[in-house]
Amino acid sequence: MSVKEIVQFGESVLTKVSKRIEGIDKQTIQLAKDLCDTLYNSTGVGLAAPQIGISKRMILIDLRDGSDPILLINPKITEQSGKEKDIEGCLSYPGYEGIVERPEKVKVVGFNLKGEKIRYSASGLLARAFCHEIDHLDGVLYIDRAEKVYKE
Ligand code: CO
Repeated sequence: MSVKEIVQFGESVLTKVSKRIEGIDKQTIQLAKDLCDTLYNSTGVGLAAPQIGISKRMILIDLRDGSDPILLINPKITEQSGKEKDIEGCLSYPGYEGIVERPEKVKVVGFNLKGEKIRYSASGLLARAFCHEIDHLDGVLYIDRAEKVYKE
């Protein structure tokens, strides 16, 4: 087990653009494990590598609804449609929630740990989670997009 400390708002790694991952090596596998250990030690539904201090393009999403967790390397939104406002929070900004407008549907492409290309079509909460986590890789926090942020 390697639970990492979750980087909190104000630290510079959260506002940097993360680097693409070129090839699956030992470090990549370790990063995936650390993301899993850290997410499952929290109550969150998603985590991005910069949130454990690593400025690389990897995200983990688990909506905790029984569906399979999604680990994606170099994820990218290729299509989006619709708009939807809903509540979001972030493990790097605990104790607060905000209302954020996101696309209702997104298509996402990325790579798994075997280096295979994976595509997702997502809507609702999963689409929101993809947008939120991919934003982290670009140094963007939900509070930058929220129309309102308030105490939980
Ligand atoms: Co977040």
